[in-house]
Order: sequence, then C-alpha cells, then structure tokens
Amino acid sequence: MADQEPVTKTAALIAQKAPYGVDVEAGKTYYWCACGRSAKQPFCDGSHKGTGITPLAHQAEKSAKVWMCGCKATKTPPFCDGTHKSL
Ligand code: FES
Repeated sequence: MADQEPVTKTAALIAQKAPYGVDVEAGKTYYWCACGRSAKQPFCDGSHKGTGITPLAHQAEKSAKVWMCGCKATKTPPFCDGTHKSL
C-alpha cells in the first residue's frame, strides 16, 4: 500500500507581534495575508503559494484607520483582537 500524505496546511508565521494600522477606503477590497509570509504586510503578495493558506478578502465598509493583525493568530481576522499579547 502506498503511503499517502494527508493534505495539511503549513503553519502561519508571525509577521510581527503587533497589528498594522492601515487606512482603508470605503468599498475597496483588501487581501489580508493569513500565512505571515508576505513582504507587503498586512497584505498578500502571493507568498502563500504552497502553504495551503489563502489570503482573506475584506471589503471596507467605510474609510477609516483599522488595525489588521500581524501575528496571524487573531480570532477576528483580518483585525487584531489582542491575541498577540499572549504569544
Ligand atoms: S496582531 Fe494578531 S491579534 Fe493583535
């Protein structure tokens, strides 16, 4: 019988243990990096390829400054929920 590797996700990396403050524009869609590998934090640059992790699309409801998670462990992606303080 052939060995079959289960399809697993590679773990997300911590980009930084703090959120990124970004100014978003109402109606625009932003792709939040979920894998932690992007060089354009907190946004996706395609570096997730091969990890099994995909970015999260987020459409801004209003133009405002928001705090996007940099530790990638938040329970409320793409936003920081304070989880980084316990890492
Ligand atoms: S930066 Fe991830 S929870 Fe705050």
